[in-house]
Amino acid sequence: VDSLTTMPSGAGKISCLNAVVLGEALASEVDELVFPSHHFSSQALVPSPQKYLEIYQRSIDDPAGFWSDIASQFYWKQKWPQPAVSENLDVREGHVYIEWFKGGITNISYNCLDRNVEAGLGDKVAIYWEGNDLGSDATLTYSQLLQRVCQLANYLKDVGVKKGDAVVIYLPMLMELPIAMLACARIGAVHSVVFAGFSAESLAQRIVDCKPKAVITCNAVKRGSKPIHLKDIVDAALTGSAQQGVSVDVCLTYENQSAMMRESTKWQEGRDVWWQDVVPKYPTTCDVEWVDAEDPLFLLYTSGSTGKPKGVLHTTGGYMVYTATTFKYAFDYKPSDVYWCTADCGWITGHSYVTYGPMLNGASVLVYEGAPNYPDSGRCWDIVDKYKVTIFYTAPTLVRSLMREGDQYVTRYSRKSLRVLGSVGEPINPSAWRWYFNVVGDSRCPISDTWWQTETGGFLITPLPGAWPQKPGSATFPFFGVQPVIVDEKGVEIEGECSGYLCIKGSWPGAFRTLYGDHERYETTYFKPFPGYYFSGDGCSRDKDGYHWLTGRVDDVINVSGHRIGTAEVESALVSHPQCAEAAVVGVEHEVKGQGIYAFVTLVEGVPYSEELRKSLVLAVRQQIGAFAAPDKIHWAPGLPKTRSGKIMRRILRKIASRQLDELGDTSTLADPSVVDQLIELADH
Ligand code: WTA
Repeated sequence: VDSLTTMPSGAGKISCLNAVVLGEALASEVDELVFPSHHFSSQALVPSPQKYLEIYQRSIDDPAGFWSDIASQFYWKQKWPQPAVSENLDVREGHVYIEWFKGGITNISYNCLDRNVEAGLGDKVAIYWEGNDLGSDATLTYSQLLQRVCQLANYLKDVGVKKGDAVVIYLPMLMELPIAMLACARIGAVHSVVFAGFSAESLAQRIVDCKPKAVITCNAVKRGSKPIHLKDIVDAALTGSAQQGVSVDVCLTYENQSAMMRESTKWQEGRDVWWQDVVPKYPTTCDVEWVDAEDPLFLLYTSGSTGKPKGVLHTTGGYMVYTATTFKYAFDYKPSDVYWCTADCGWITGHSYVTYGPMLNGASVLVYEGAPNYPDSGRCWDIVDKYKVTIFYTAPTLVRSLMREGDQYVTRYSRKSLRVLGSVGEPINPSAWRWYFNVVGDSRCPISDTWWQTETGGFLITPLPGAWPQKPGSATFPFFGVQPVIVDEKGVEIEGECSGYLCIKGSWPGAFRTLYGDHERYETTYFKPFPGYYFSGDGCSRDKDGYHWLTGRVDDVINVSGHRIGTAEVESALVSHPQCAEAAVVGVEHEVKGQGIYAFVTLVEGVPYSEELRKSLVLAVRQQIGAFAAPDKIHWAPGLPKTRSGKIMRRILRKIASRQLDELGDTSTLADPSVVDQLIELADH
């Protein structure tokens, strides 16, 4: 304990953890601290704050050495020359760049599959697949997965996909989705998975941006009892992208018989190919394309504060080392675990913590195709019992929606196998945290509330289960090698108990390297707001014990059911409607979704507002982005509150949307203050 009190001052927030170690914090906040059981801690990878501080300190003092030691546990065809990291994060000193293990030659697919098979895990289950319909399931061992990946990789090579080419994947949670990702990685192709809830227009936009050699999809998927014709969406997207000058030669389509037979699928001869007709004919071995650690692995489009989605680019080596390590420690992974992350591979969570992180550790991963409440709200726990899931990782929105349905759906299942719970995507409110902890986890399982982003590749702030007491709703402390700082509006670091903007000092191996085709936007968005730091876009406060509390986005991005949506994207979808003149979208608190989408719309002169028009405005958003982005509320706005220079004052709109009408603040600077009264009057129109 003595050594902890002599922590270097650079680790200010970490030394706060000492208070917990020393028991100082306990007197006042005993209700808030949830301690891991002795049983859990004694078997944990990181059993105490002391151990964490020891490892953390080394990771900060010598990042290159620290990460090199971990990286050495993977297979490298050729080791990276020293040093392991080279970077500039300060825009004032030139262009921003981050390189980890550059010059090292490896392959992430090889490390996920071949390496594990060679280590004797060939017969271990890699994927437990649970279909939407009760009773439909399948498994693949690591050897079988490797063979499937090789067959697809051979097919892709055969149709001309080469190292560096993009491949768009638009698939639901079939086993074929991770297979497709791993097959691309095996041949050095850059996958871009598009969540299969995105509309044809959004898919087309992404295809136009990354110009893939092939698109991989399936004919349909069942969500609940309803089939959704994904192939029709892809057809429309490919027509759309061709009109914008980007045509794709190959559309590999998996026949998902549980949802739709091939006879009813629309087909374009020459371009469309049934997966089942071609892929199984290829050899089950395929040479690996060895790539540089800094060669791109994937592109994933995400929302920002302008209408155009950003192509977040991750490279191979650092991402590999980082996702594997964060997975292992944040979930206290043991080889006997059965791990289930409910995220879709269409989002970053599915990339890092369905596919890469777990498989790099040789874990058994459960992939569930369907909706978590189908056929009823007990489905998740039914699955947990069926597969003896030990680590369950989901989003607060699901926790809240299941909490609403009542404990009986949970308690009728055993859930004895559960050991660790996880949360991601948005802040988890303390009451949902407690329900998750007490009811789902029977007060036995630590909750890893993992804070991170598409851009960060892996967890940055997260509990390590068993290592220290938790506070419901706090993501707690930084992962190894991560230096979070909280800054004020001027970019000045604030120490101790405070709140402000969350930035990160220095790089970590899993950081994204650029926005595809727009390095300038990368620098402007992330490195210019607070020079010298990576700016996360999130607000954060730190309490007197050094725990971090994420408070949500501070930019024009909202988090709806853990899905990241740019308000500008929704606005541009609304104004594409011929009868909509202007739109302003804000987030409002939503009991289940975390945030809901609240849209103020001004109609074209003379058009009356009606229920029918409201529906068609919502439809415009569904068609342009996807159903998950549909506004919860359309508020008719004959006028919007604007400053004299024409800027919409969103602050006022947020207050109106949340009905905090006594907190509107100063409206005198508006060009026409009377619009505010008008909006209030129309609030429940
Ligand atoms: C939010 C998802 C609080 C945050 C991995 C971030 C969280 C955005 C948490 C990134 C958490 C994610 N606590 N907020 N544990 N995890 N967020 O890119 O606002 O889809 O900036 O990545 O989600 O969303 P993204």
